Amino acid sequence: MPAPAKLRLGVNIDHVATVRNARGGALPDPVRAAVMAIAAGADGITAHLREDRRHIRDDDMARLKATIAKPLNFEMAATDQMLDIALRTKPHASCLVPEKRTERTTEGGLDVLGGHNHLKPYVSELSRAGIRVSLFIEPSIEALEAARSIGAPVVELHTGAWCHAVETGDTSRAEQEFERIRIAAAQTTRLGLECHAGHGLDFATARRIAGLTDIIELNIGHFLIGEAIFIGLDPAVRQMRAAMDDGRRSASGA
Ligand code: PXP
Repeated sequence: MPAPAKLRLGVNIDHVATVRNARGGALPDPVRAAVMAIAAGADGITAHLREDRRHIRDDDMARLKATIAKPLNFEMAATDQMLDIALRTKPHASCLVPEKRTERTTEGGLDVLGGHNHLKPYVSELSRAGIRVSLFIEPSIEALEAARSIGAPVVELHTGAWCHAVETGDTSRAEQEFERIRIAAAQTTRLGLECHAGHGLDFATARRIAGLTDIIELNIGHFLIGEAIFIGLDPAVRQMRAAMDDGRRSASGA
């Protein structure tokens, strides 16, 4: 059996910008955090330019693109304004996410079934510009099939419900949610989709999900930036990298 693919770590630096914006100045700089995360082993940087600009701002995206030596994943809502900015920024990848102004974070996956006709032109335009598009979806077979019919080469499975159940100690719910992710991830290869996952992951959940070898990228932000307050960003990223590598090694029986 061939060795499973290495699991990439995308570090989301949105919440460095959240802290900066609390004072309205220039510090702490999310671009400095991105450079440091890469030096510590991140394979790419993710940033979400929200419509309300509550954390990342337009010039952060431009500076990230100009500065970092690893792929930039531009998270965005499927709107004409965001499409324009993405086409100008030319990131390596764009992850389309649902956005509600009242939410604290991206609460659920995209409505890929009802939103097919709305999403498809965005996927086509971004792809035509050479940007690799992923759709942030619920871990279900229906969502995977809908994502494929929209034409995105990549899906990112929303792990928030699983991580929330783990965090609140609801073990049976957590196992059900993990099983949904496991089944969905196993279907991605059959459907010809590249599989990413993220939302709410910490060291323990990242280690466990790393055992699902169809997943080739995890995007992790909030926990890492929070952990950086206590142990520093560099050690937090290194510890995450080690947890993921350990989880993947165990899964391959090495
Ligand atoms: N992936 C996507 C598509 C997201 O929207 C987010 C949150 O911005 C993440 C991953 C990272 O989630 P967290 O910050 O909880 O690690």
